[in-house]
Amino acid sequence: MSRFNKDSVSGTVIVALAVCLVCSIIVSGAAVILKPTQKVNSVLNVKQNILRAANLITGPVTAQEVEEKFSLVTPRIVDLETGEYVDPSVVGVAEAINYDQFRAAKDPQFSKALAGSEDIAGIKRRERYATVYTIENEGQIDRVILPVRGYGLWSTLYGFLALEGDANTVVGFGFYEHAETPGLGGEVDNPNWISQWPGKKIYDLEEGAEPKIHLVKGGVRANDPEANYGVDALAGATLTSRGITNLLHFWLGEQGFQKYLEQIRSGEASNG
Ligand SMILES: Cc1cc2nc3c(=O)[nH]c(=O)nc-3n(C[C@H](O)[C@H](O)[C@H](O)COP(=O)(O)O)c2cc1C
Repeated sequence: MSRFNKDSVSGTVIVALAVCLVCSIIVSGAAVILKPTQKVNSVLNVKQNILRAANLITGPVTAQEVEEKFSLVTPRIVDLETGEYVDPSVVGVAEAINYDQFRAAKDPQFSKALAGSEDIAGIKRRERYATVYTIENEGQIDRVILPVRGYGLWSTLYGFLALEGDANTVVGFGFYEHAETPGLGGEVDNPNWISQWPGKKIYDLEEGAEPKIHLVKGGVRANDPEANYGVDALAGATLTSRGITNLLHFWLGEQGFQKYLEQIRSGEASNG
């Protein structure tokens, strides 16, 4: 019987293949084993960002603190066509927290293609049902947190906008995922910029239903009568700034949460 010669051409190939096989088993095994942990961490990350927008947590927090605070939050599914709550079974889940609206946005059964003029957020398709998160007190909405997304310069920015129970005053706003340039569009993550949002108004309710909140190139002047509706644009990042104004107008407009927010203001957003 011939002995295995690892220095021959065939021996080298066999050893290389064996090393590849062992490595691929280790990598795919690790991926399978870590998948549940990754899922738990990604849900935890979303919860943390919701709580940050709602100003319920600041600074570093533990997973346990996130879970404790999140028990104050009620996830609900809203029909964007009517502004009303629907049962989670309508979107095929047992609990609203398990609904994946980004996946629904790709499914023609649960979403619609947006015409160019409608698609100011640059998202191409809009899901019919969206998850919202409420914090309620004796049946009244105290805060509502809305998922928003839209295109900046290089990427889609994903974030949460939290409003007070008047469905008009901003509690907090922040993005948890984007790929804008650090130091330019990436300044959306700068705490100084984020700190400008609380107290800003979305609509002039006496004037009409169109969102007025927008980013102001060159910065908001304190004596500007519209200062309540303005936040400083990002320096050197006009395109990201324009994208943020557009995505807010989309999600707070008639294609987005406008009807739902009207229902909150009229006291009709009942428990679903
Ligand atoms: C490498 C590089 C990265 C850039 N990243 C961004 C960005 O993330 N967001 C943005 O709006 N503009 C970005 N810009 C700048 C835009 O190309 C454009 O010049 C800018 O938005 C105009 O804004 P300004 O009128 O405030 O100067 C980048 C430019 C370069 C060269």
